[in-house]
Amino acid sequence: MSVKRASIHKKVKFMAYNTLEVTKESGVCIIKLNRPKALNALCNELTMELAQALEKLEVDDETGCVIITGSDKAFAAGADIKELKDGTYLDMYNHDVFGLYWEAVARFRKPIIAAVAGYALGGGCEIAMMCDFIIAADNAKFGQPEINLGVMPGAGGTQRLARFVGKSKAMDMCLTGRTMRAEEAHACGLVSRVVPLDELMDVAMEAAKKIAHQSRPIAMMTKEAVNTAFETSLTQGIHFERRLFQSMFSTEDQKEGMSAFSEKRTPHFTNK
Ligand code: CAA
Repeated sequence: MSVKRASIHKKVKFMAYNTLEVTKESGVCIIKLNRPKALNALCNELTMELAQALEKLEVDDETGCVIITGSDKAFAAGADIKELKDGTYLDMYNHDVFGLYWEAVARFRKPIIAAVAGYALGGGCEIAMMCDFIIAADNAKFGQPEINLGVMPGAGGTQRLARFVGKSKAMDMCLTGRTMRAEEAHACGLVSRVVPLDELMDVAMEAAKKIAHQSRPIAMMTKEAVNTAFETSLTQGIHFERRLFQSMFSTEDQKEGMSAFSEKRTPHFTNK
């Protein structure tokens, strides 16, 4: 008797957001941070909407890759200082500030690219670093200027920046609060590519479409394996990689990918 399995996945409908523009094209979902008057400062509403959008995209069958972007002037100029200014320790603690909604980006299981133009400061830099990789426009400026406000990075900046760029530059950025331009960010490994501003979205879309058309489970496992490099020893990481690699031979996409190579044709992956 053949059993028809219920699909847990679906085409997801998005509600209207106040602080985001969400569009989908060719397997890619673009989330544009959209608070232009505040340079996309990451207020509570924006981070909540971002977490809600990602939660939907996680189970959206049509989406294989996500791009987070901002405007030409600002990816995001950090957490909303005006919202934080009068907060007390208990406000921060009780609402788990920079925990709950912000971490949704880091927890997202599908590939996610940050396409950064203009300011990526404080929480803006931290959200970009939570993505899998950063493509920067030549006008991008990165920084962790929190020390100028009498605080320090609170959404992973001290930890992720140190892993991206090493101790010396992370200390320099976090202690002086200076910003670095796109070329410096590229030279130290914070961003994977720098492109002219007017080409940013085309380049990001090209990369995202390429990813979205790979086998989705294989792309997700690849992401999981690379991320494991930052959480474990080399021996354990390599063990994890090898087990995942071996498990891929249970998929139809591995058979399709290798058959297509042998038959000199383009593979057609079915995410199975
Ligand atoms: N929070 C709230 N509002 C912000 C903001 C922020 N992080 N960044 C900019 N804005 C607002 C400004 O207050 C201003 O609003 P009004 O017109 O109502 O006054 C508007 O955006 C435009 O900003 P500016 O006039 O300052 O624009 P500029 O071009 O002269 O300067 C800038 C741009 C250098 C990015 C400057 O806005 C700036 O320094 N912003 C703050 C950057 C910062 O300190 N970020 C860290 C925040 S704390 C944090 O992120 C903690 C964490 O770890 C998560």
